[in-house]
Amino acid sequence: MKVYCAKDYEQASKVAAAIISAQVLMKPDCVLGLATGSTPIGTYEQLIKRYKEGELDFSQVHSINLDEYRGLRPDNDQSYRYFMNTHLFDFVNIDKKNTFVPDGLEEDKEKACRDYDEIIRAHGGVDLQVLGLGHNGHIGFNEPDSCFAKGTHCVTLAESTVAANARFFASADEVPKEAYTMGIQSIMQAKKILVIVSGESKKEIVKKAFYGPITPQVPASVLQLHPDVTIVGDEAALSE
Ligand code: F6R
Repeated sequence: MKVYCAKDYEQASKVAAAIISAQVLMKPDCVLGLATGSTPIGTYEQLIKRYKEGELDFSQVHSINLDEYRGLRPDNDQSYRYFMNTHLFDFVNIDKKNTFVPDGLEEDKEKACRDYDEIIRAHGGVDLQVLGLGHNGHIGFNEPDSCFAKGTHCVTLAESTVAANARFFASADEVPKEAYTMGIQSIMQAKKILVIVSGESKKEIVKKAFYGPITPQVPASVLQLHPDVTIVGDEAALSE
C-alpha cells in the first residue's frame, strides 16, 4: 500500500489525476473504474484541464462506474449517470457508448446485477479502480456487513449513508433507499486501486480501514489485501 499525503484537497486532486493520466497514457484503451461523491470532483476537474491542454486522449478509454441509485432516471440530476456526465464525460472526448453505470431503472434486481457483472467480465475487468471512502468504511455502496459481497448486488443503504447523501436532495425522504453496486470481489480484481480521501471527517475511518483489522464491518479494510493500492489524501484525512 502506498500512501501519498498532499497538503490540501487541491494538491490531492492533482496527484490523483496524475495517477489516472499515467494509466491512460500507458494504456490508451484502458478500463477505468470510476466513483462519484464529493471527493473525486477535484480529480475530474484536473483530468478535464489536462484534456483541454492536449495532454490526454479518452477516445479509446472505457469506464465502469461503481454504483447507481435504484429507481432514478439517468437524467435525474441526483443520479450517478448524471453526475458522471456533468463532472467528466461531457467535457472530455470519451465515447459515452463506452461508459457504463448500473441501470438504475432495471426493476429486475437479479437481471440488473447479472448484466453489470457481464459488462465488467466482457471488458476483462478494471485496470484502475478509483474509490472514495464512506464514513462507515463503505466502498461503492458495499456497506458494513457480516461478509464481503462478491459481485454486483442491490443494497439497502445504511441510515448513515442516506443521511450523508441527504444534502444533495430536498429532504432525506427523497434519497433513494436502494442502490446497485459493484461487489467487493470485482473491486478487488481491479489491477490497481486508487483511493482518494479528503477532510478531517475521514481521519478516523482512514485509520480504521487501512491500519485496523480486516473485517466486513469496515468494507474498505479488505483493500489491505490488494497488491497495488495507492491512497491519496490531504493532511486532514491522513492526520491519524
Ligand atoms: C460513490 C461511492 C461512494 C463514495 C463514498 C464517499 O460512487 O461509491 O462509496 O465514494 O460515499 O463519498 P464522498 O466522496 O462524497 O465523501
